[in-house]
Amino acid sequence: MNDSYAVIGNPIAHSKSPLIHAAFAQQTNQSMHYAALLAPLDGFQPTVENFRSQGGKGLNVTVPFKLEAYRFSTHLTERASIAQAVNTLKFERDEILGDNTDGAGLVRDIETNLGVPIDNKRILLMGAGGAARGVILPLLQKKPALLSIANRTPHKAEALQKLFDTYGKVTSGDFMHFSGETFDIVINATSASLHDELPELPIGIFAQTGLAYDMMYGREPTRFLKFAQQSGARKIADGIGMLVEQAAESFYLWRNIKPETKPVIAMLKSII
Ligand code: ATR
Repeated sequence: MNDSYAVIGNPIAHSKSPLIHAAFAQQTNQSMHYAALLAPLDGFQPTVENFRSQGGKGLNVTVPFKLEAYRFSTHLTERASIAQAVNTLKFERDEILGDNTDGAGLVRDIETNLGVPIDNKRILLMGAGGAARGVILPLLQKKPALLSIANRTPHKAEALQKLFDTYGKVTSGDFMHFSGETFDIVINATSASLHDELPELPIGIFAQTGLAYDMMYGREPTRFLKFAQQSGARKIADGIGMLVEQAAESFYLWRNIKPETKPVIAMLKSII
């Protein structure tokens, strides 16, 4: 029987993960099956246990279960432990290993696919929810000159600053706090784009920006990306690359093989 994997979330019908992992499996000749698993909002744990008891080897975890997956894990990687969120579970004997590949996926997309080194750059990270938290350590490990965390509710950004400031130079505030400053890389990790909203950013922030990045994606550039481009950002990118790269990291954790991501990113872009 083929090894069985799935992505678990609620809702899940829109997930691109089955498509991505099927492409990886084909490319690397892995005999595996990958499905989408809808869990009731109050039924994450029994759904996972059921999948596991039927021989499931691993899961990708998406909204809204990343914190529950973190609590459910018996072992954690350092990056998952610090992010306090898990997007990948691996089942081995009695062990449930929780990992978080989101940050590694973002960093790889920015540096390798988009060709923008993070080392010594000034980075503005917008948002202080789970999406932002999951990428801070991997960003800091690339040694930016500065990582500023901006959030509508500034105390949440400040809490993240306190948590991570031993790993690099970190500042925080609300969006207007950064008025008069410029950043080389601006990353939108808020959920504003989901609702077609644009955080209120200070004018001039994009004057030196080489890359504006939105973790969300869609057929059209998000309002954030359009605004960044109009305001001087030289390059814009949505989160498709990150989505495929985080999946590739999960695939590697499960199968010990690194799939090629470029053709899969191109395939996804053509169908979205
Ligand atoms: P996630 O896990 O996806 O990060 P979350 O924990 O609900 O989701 O966090 C959503 C983030 O988007 C928060 O940083 C939120 O700001 P607040 O902490 O002030 O709520 C941010 N956000 C959502 N809509 C926004 C908007 N229209 N403008 C600015 N920030 C927004």
